[in-house]
Amino acid sequence: MRMQQRKQSLPGRAKSLRLKLTEQEQELFRQHAEPLLAHPQVLEMEQFVQHGSVSCLEHSIAVAELSFLVCRRLGVRADVPSLVRGALLHDFFLYDWHEKQDRTGLHGFTHPYTALKNAERLFSLNDLERDIIVKHMWPLTWKRPRYRESVLVCMADKCCSLWETFFCRLPQKGKNSIGIE
Ligand SMILES: [Fe+2]
Ligand SMILES: [Fe+2]
Repeated sequence: MRMQQRKQSLPGRAKSLRLKLTEQEQELFRQHAEPLLAHPQVLEMEQFVQHGSVSCLEHSIAVAELSFLVCRRLGVRADVPSLVRGALLHDFFLYDWHEKQDRTGLHGFTHPYTALKNAERLFSLNDLERDIIVKHMWPLTWKRPRYRESVLVCMADKCCSLWETFFCRLPQKGKNSIGIE
């Protein structure tokens, strides 16, 4: 199965866009993130590839960290706990989007709603967290983000996705990790 093959390539993979947090920032980020990251179903995101060699979990953490850091370093007034929680759950769709299988609809348009449904099954979300999850694909999806936290996550998601797509690619078939056949 493709997911398994891709998963086997994950050790030693290129990492997503991860900026360096100070110890104090790490501690604060952990306080907000840990309750979600302790949940086994949230950890299941590690089984699915998001872009290139980056898992969905790693992508979600990178997006949450980047949104958190922009907020802190630029002094943006924001509901930081909701920002981190919404960012961590924005791609909580729990399937391999590279496989069509029996999904209906286009992943780009439908996965924010699948992520929201999965998140609401496990956690009690506020309006801001729901908005972050459902609007993170804007402007592909029409509804504009309603809160500044949603805009931040939407932008951080695009930065991380571009980074992962261009700089975290899987080695091509028949080539080793440095691209020599
Ligand atoms: Fe997404
Ligand atoms: Fe994403």
